[in-house]
Amino acid sequence: MLQLAYISTSRRPVDQELLDDILAVSRRNNERCGVTGLLVSGGKRFLQVLEGPDQAVLATYARIQNDPRHFAFVALVTRPIEARAFGDWSMAYHEGGAAADGDLIAVVEELTANIADPNLRAQFGGFARLHSKAA
Ligand SMILES: Cc1cc2nc3c(=O)[nH]c(=O)nc-3n(C[C@H](O)[C@H](O)[C@H](O)COP(=O)(O)O)c2cc1C
Repeated sequence: MLQLAYISTSRRPVDQELLDDILAVSRRNNERCGVTGLLVSGGKRFLQVLEGPDQAVLATYARIQNDPRHFAFVALVTRPIEARAFGDWSMAYHEGGAAADGDLIAVVEELTANIADPNLRAQFGGFARLHSKAA
């Protein structure tokens, strides 16, 4: 199994209509191919984690990257995993803080500041640090 996390920037401010559309399509497709994960959005940013069978995750990410509604993708992590960390939902959603521009660690911190679960927040911080080590 693969875990993949990225951030991207929306072409327009994210509103409920856009989110409803993304989540409905995601839940339908992801359920079919065994992908689970979490989407966080704040201001014009998205942060998403995808988990599942390698090919399903890669094919889903390829489709997502081709979506003209967002751009400026930064892959935070792509790694093999034994067990899912975000396995409860075909695509869970969390409203994030409005992340200003800054370095990646600051953006991820601001985006995830509203998340009450400290373990979950730490996990996102870990993604950002992993990325900055890889860069
Ligand atoms: C931020 C964001 C996250 C998305 N996440 C997913 C996802 O997890 N799974 C998915 O199938 N599509 C996702 N999409 C939608 C895809 O980009 C694409 O529109 C969709 O997969 C096309 O599906 P369809 O061919 O069934 O219409 C996402 C789009 C955006 C903008």
